[in-house]
Amino acid sequence: MTPTQPPPIFTYMATVAPGLEPVAISEICTKLPSAWVQNQLRGRVLFNTDAPWEKLQNLKCVDNLYLHIAWLKVGPHKIHLADLSADIENTPMHHLPFMTTAGPGTKIVVNASRSGQHTFSRFDAANAVLEGLSMAHRFIPGTVDSHDLNFRLDIIDTDALFSLKLTDSTFRFRGKRAFSPAALRPPIAHALIWISNPQPTDTFLDPFCGSGTIPIERGAYEALSITGGDSSPEAVAVAEDNAPSHIQIMQMDARDLTNLAPSSITTIVSNLPWGKQIAPGEDITGLYSRFFQEMDRILTSHGRAILLTDQENAIETACKVSGLEHQPICTVSLHGALPVVYQVTRK
Ligand SMILES: C[S@@+](CC[C@H](N)C(=O)[O-])C[C@H]1O[C@@H](n2cnc3c(N)ncnc32)[C@H](O)[C@@H]1O
Repeated sequence: MTPTQPPPIFTYMATVAPGLEPVAISEICTKLPSAWVQNQLRGRVLFNTDAPWEKLQNLKCVDNLYLHIAWLKVGPHKIHLADLSADIENTPMHHLPFMTTAGPGTKIVVNASRSGQHTFSRFDAANAVLEGLSMAHRFIPGTVDSHDLNFRLDIIDTDALFSLKLTDSTFRFRGKRAFSPAALRPPIAHALIWISNPQPTDTFLDPFCGSGTIPIERGAYEALSITGGDSSPEAVAVAEDNAPSHIQIMQMDARDLTNLAPSSITTIVSNLPWGKQIAPGEDITGLYSRFFQEMDRILTSHGRAILLTDQENAIETACKVSGLEHQPICTVSLHGALPVVYQVTRK
């Protein structure tokens, strides 16, 4: 009798919106109990796990997943890229999953990112990786539209993280879905849901749901009810098209939620109007204040809201005029802005 082999352990890299790394780590450790986190860098989490690929695809707070191949070193000058090519050439890869069918003629693309002081560009670095892989495996250059494997090199000062991309855009955009111009990427919406600690007894509301991204992400977990609303009929129509049937979408004005009973909602998660969403001259403080007064009425006594916005003053004023208090949870780097995730509860 041959003893059964334990499943092999591999290192993966998850990319995530900077600021949400701890949320991604919480999701990884909860959904993959045998996983352990090896390293956390800006926008990246490296973790080890023996979990099969199907289980990894349940990670919803991350943008992309990569198989981590090697952690290399690179000097600051262009001349050092020859060493990088040689290191890539000498990195064993055939034992890795997703690589077993790769061989001469496999079409590859390489993307590189670079931060720190270097006299080479990220394109120079990507070419150095391509050269190393061509020498070692006789892979050939592919194109963005036609390739078999997509490698990535992240250079951070003297460190170079070499990995293989495992997910494409359908992973983070959840297949085909229509998004309104202010829509959140689904993994960011999911991170807000994860922060809200979803429970099967939740009665859930997003009263600024736009194309429905947040309620749809909430639909990944059991709830008593999930409702999304928006004042724009166009947004409501898009959200209705996007949402599965167990999610209720309705037109509503968050300043007047009188059709919702007092103490009827346990959890609100919302991406409020902020940044470019606010029209010049719009009374954002008035909007937030009236919404907070409605929230105070409809939330259960232990209910809470997780809200994303960069409008700190409006949040502070809205708390003062309602019986609610706010607490910042984390700041997210998003489209060049730095909105904050707030938790809002009763005083
Ligand atoms: C930042 S967007 C939300 C985007 C959404 N999270 C998504 O992923 O598609 C804010 C939304 O608030 C809606 N809105 C603005 N004022 C509103 C109000 N008084 N009541 C309800 N919705 C409102 C806008 O129509 C817009 O769709």
